[in-house]
Amino acid sequence: MANTALIVGASGIVGNNLAHHLLAKGWHVHGLARRPPTDIHGLQPVSADLLDPAALKTALAKIRPSHVFLSTWMRQPTEAENIRVNGTMVRNVLDAVSPGASVQHVALVTGLKHYLGPFEAYGKGTMPPTPFREEQGRLDVENFYYAQEDEWNGLTDMTDARVLARHLTWAATTEAARNQAFNIVNGDVFRWSWMWQRIADWFGVKPAAFGGEGVPLETQLADAASIWSDIAGKYNLVERDLKVLASPWHTDADLGRPIEVVTDMSKSRKLGFLDYQATDDSFTDLFKRLKDARIIP
Ligand SMILES: NC(=O)c1ccc[n+]([C@@H]2O[C@H](COP(=O)([O-])OP(=O)(O)OC[C@H]3O[C@@H](n4cnc5c(N)ncnc54)[C@H](OP(=O)(O)O)[C@@H]3O)[C@@H](O)[C@H]2O)c1
Repeated sequence: MANTALIVGASGIVGNNLAHHLLAKGWHVHGLARRPPTDIHGLQPVSADLLDPAALKTALAKIRPSHVFLSTWMRQPTEAENIRVNGTMVRNVLDAVSPGASVQHVALVTGLKHYLGPFEAYGKGTMPPTPFREEQGRLDVENFYYAQEDEWNGLTDMTDARVLARHLTWAATTEAARNQAFNIVNGDVFRWSWMWQRIADWFGVKPAAFGGEGVPLETQLADAASIWSDIAGKYNLVERDLKVLASPWHTDADLGRPIEVVTDMSKSRKLGFLDYQATDDSFTDLFKRLKDARIIP
């Protein structure tokens, strides 16, 4: 019998890619969100708010997933609130699917905050050794400190959501991967000083020289809402609201990390997951997809 997935956060970056991947592999896929996608062929949309346990139970009452993929989060003003709200969301899903007794596998997608600390303390305090390995414990850091310079020439890596989709599927169907935590990255490393040039080349623009100090995107985009709206109008793009498309605070946190960030994939590889994705191709493939979808000109 085909596997049945419940993707929680199916309209998000991770969930959307996973839905396409599982459907292509012949899975039955239910996609949950407050506004679940309706444009993914074969996906069964489930509309529910994870913070409304009664409505969630009703929405999931007839669904018997064999695999649950939790790829959702809601940003809160403080880490204490993040813990409360995001913890409640996971608990509510598990409470809602438990009575059906159908679930064989639950995957929880987290991120580098596991190693670097929460956003309000991202990269501050005693930094863990890199490459990050799954056996590393949790950090005890309290404050966010914003440091930029090292990142320009710092080594880093990235996760293409398509690789993550393939890894989640592999881990869901591989006995040796049961009940394990895994890092998931593309498998290459790069420096932004190298990548910016390639991104600029794709767009046919000249990258600005690095002046020795970071320039936060949040400041750069502070007045950009109306500029973007005009661009979207001019090129007939689907989204005129810049806030829906970009989260500069997140980009600033990722590009402002005070240490090199490289993540070890040996654990997955030893267990047989050998997938690899060149990150410059991840960017250009994504730009093509965004262009085709009329999200960027
Ligand atoms: N994207 C990244 O760069 C990145 C990097 C590292 C780690 N991660 C981790 O990967 C996971 C998924 O991230 P993502 O970037 O794919 O998220 P995302 O694009 O922000 O998507 C979040 C999804 O969750 C749904 N959702 C949010 N609140 C909900 C609620 N109350 N009830 C029901 N559905 C809700 C959203 O749909 P609606 O708004 O329609 O409800 C959407 O489908 C997170 O744990 C994140 O920390 C992501």
